[in-house]
Amino acid sequence: NTSGFIFDLDGVIVDTAKYHYLAWKKLANELGFEFTHEQNELFKGVSRKKCLEILLDIGGINATQEQFDVWMVEKNEDYLRYIEEMDASEILPDVPKVLQFLKEHNVPVALGSASKNARPILEKVGLLHYFDSIVDGNNVTKAKPDPEVFLLAAEKLNVLPKNCIVFEDAVAGIQAANIANMVSIGIGDENVLSEADFNFNDFTEINLGFIQELAKLNGE
Ligand code: BG6
Ligand code: MG
Repeated sequence: NTSGFIFDLDGVIVDTAKYHYLAWKKLANELGFEFTHEQNELFKGVSRKKCLEILLDIGGINATQEQFDVWMVEKNEDYLRYIEEMDASEILPDVPKVLQFLKEHNVPVALGSASKNARPILEKVGLLHYFDSIVDGNNVTKAKPDPEVFLLAAEKLNVLPKNCIVFEDAVAGIQAANIANMVSIGIGDENVLSEADFNFNDFTEINLGFIQELAKLNGE
């Protein structure tokens, strides 16, 4: 009856939202319209395909399937150029501290991300070895707020959903965790992530006693 910890990637472990934003903005500009930071909020936790659908909607653009696929590839290639330059300095503050603590206490840890680029990013920043299991955009068919990604992560960790703790920066991600009957922890603006069971601005606000409590609380 052990507990499991599940981490979202973008916006929780690394601040890649800015690179997603720059790549989408470039495409929008090429297509002749603006793409703002506010609009980018809607893209958090959302699959690449769904993001492009929203973007084209914003620009009032009708695309053929062929054009759509070309733009999907173009956006990702631009995004990958940013990712290429990433290193450990882009890990969000105190994330390694928490991962290290969980590893030392043999708590199962999984990634639960919508991104198809999750594995190479974790490799680049040197955090891959902390994860017992990776569930990402390559493994799931239903996007957050559907709980599929987290339920699959729980299954892979061999931990009951109710004993899982999820860290998320996206509204859709918190909803997915709640639907999965997991403990949801919002990382970011508590007014935006108001549906979360607990809220923190970032990991510097989370002390290890709390992590231990969560692990124990569900494990005993
Ligand atoms: C999520 C991000 O983690 O991954 C979204 O929050 C992104 O903004 C999605 O669209 C898909 O990512 P990728 O790397 O597969 O394009
Ligand atoms: Mg995220």
